[in-house]
Amino acid sequence: MSQEQWNSKVGFIFAAAGSAIGLGAIWKFPYVAGTGGGGAFFLVFLLFTLLLGAPLLLGEFVIGRKSQSDAVTAYQKLAPNSYWGIVGKLGVVTCFILLSFYSVVGGWIILYLFEAIRGGLNGLSPEQFGSLFGEMISNPLPTLLAQFLFIVMTILVVAKGVQQGIEKASKIMMPALFILFLLLVFRSISLEGASEGITFFLYPDFTKLTSEIILLALGQAFFTLSLGVSAMVTYASYLPKTHNLPKSVFSIIFMNIFIVLLAGLAIFPGVFSFGMEPDAGPVLIFSVLPAVFSQMQFGMVFFIAFLLLFLFAALTSAFSMVEIIVAAMTRKDQSKRKKVTWTVGILIFIVGIPSCLSYGVLSDVLVFNVTIFDLFDFAVSNVFIPLGALLISIFIPLKLSKRELMEEIALGSQKRKIFFSVWYYLLKYFTPAAIVLVFMDVLGVL
Ligand code: PHE
Repeated sequence: MSQEQWNSKVGFIFAAAGSAIGLGAIWKFPYVAGTGGGGAFFLVFLLFTLLLGAPLLLGEFVIGRKSQSDAVTAYQKLAPNSYWGIVGKLGVVTCFILLSFYSVVGGWIILYLFEAIRGGLNGLSPEQFGSLFGEMISNPLPTLLAQFLFIVMTILVVAKGVQQGIEKASKIMMPALFILFLLLVFRSISLEGASEGITFFLYPDFTKLTSEIILLALGQAFFTLSLGVSAMVTYASYLPKTHNLPKSVFSIIFMNIFIVLLAGLAIFPGVFSFGMEPDAGPVLIFSVLPAVFSQMQFGMVFFIAFLLLFLFAALTSAFSMVEIIVAAMTRKDQSKRKKVTWTVGILIFIVGIPSCLSYGVLSDVLVFNVTIFDLFDFAVSNVFIPLGALLISIFIPLKLSKRELMEEIALGSQKRKIFFSVWYYLLKYFTPAAIVLVFMDVLGVL
């Protein structure tokens, strides 16, 4: 069967941006920044995004489009008779574990949505949202059901083939998410005492910067761009040769940074204005955002709209995780697609059960001193993803010649040659060196 393709240029950009923008930017970034000291974390995150993330994103696009293959085959095709296929396999395994806890948070959004629609959030004070949410996610049955529902929604779309479903929906939902976020930011920064939150988020206090925080920022930069797991390789494999890859990279990086900025500006002023703690962890946005919304006219209506869009953003990221796994397992044999997708989804749900219960009955079960949820999150975000990114940045200059790369990026003019050189050297030297240094620093080798 011939390779399916995206229907339009915009379709691809929205789908790739949909993969990138998800829980990483909206849920994870604020709470990690909150624990990591705010402004300094944000600045390091920005630097990693621009200097490491952007080049790597273009690199993954090149691998995907050139090979026109799934994550595992892509590396085997470009480096025959080698072990490089392992990079794709690492990505597949990482996405599997990633979705097992990602779906837990997806489930939280669904639960909150039900609660908000039911009217259960009406008339609460800012302090009460946090305790209500804490109670809600400690209840095993509803949380497991909601997690299951999130996975089923993902499977239903991916089983059909990603290209059909998400292109159209993304074109409407993503701009709507931006608009709602803007509204939220306006409300948040006009709260009393908001300036303290803005300072916390934007003023870099370098005394707070530790090795761990630098690692968290590195992991976060790759995580929000869906890098290191060959998700972007897989999506770019559905692109026609005529598509301009660097342009897509610019749009995706821009949207990503913009939404992270909006998320920070929506949340931190609220945190300080309501006297909450920025280091509340994974529950942070679920306590703060409804409190900010509740300060608006028709706040709960907006909050419901926000949750819907937030759920959509999480789903479009989840699609890409399942798509990598399914594409690698079916190798374009579309007849197996449905069966494989459902099997993968159910297995992911089973593996995700302990993470889901980490906020309830298993909250006392600690491995390496953290809950199972946090352990999975840490392993994926700060070990597997940076490791995958490191391997991909080594793979590209090693296995593809400059001429091949230039051809794929379709560069002709002089100005573009400079762009190419900057990209090439950032990817070849800077990216692997930076990742290794951050790892060594954390391990105490430096
Ligand atoms: N980028 C996604 C997010 O921010 C997470 C993701 C990582 C998706 C890796 C696919 C692959 O939510």
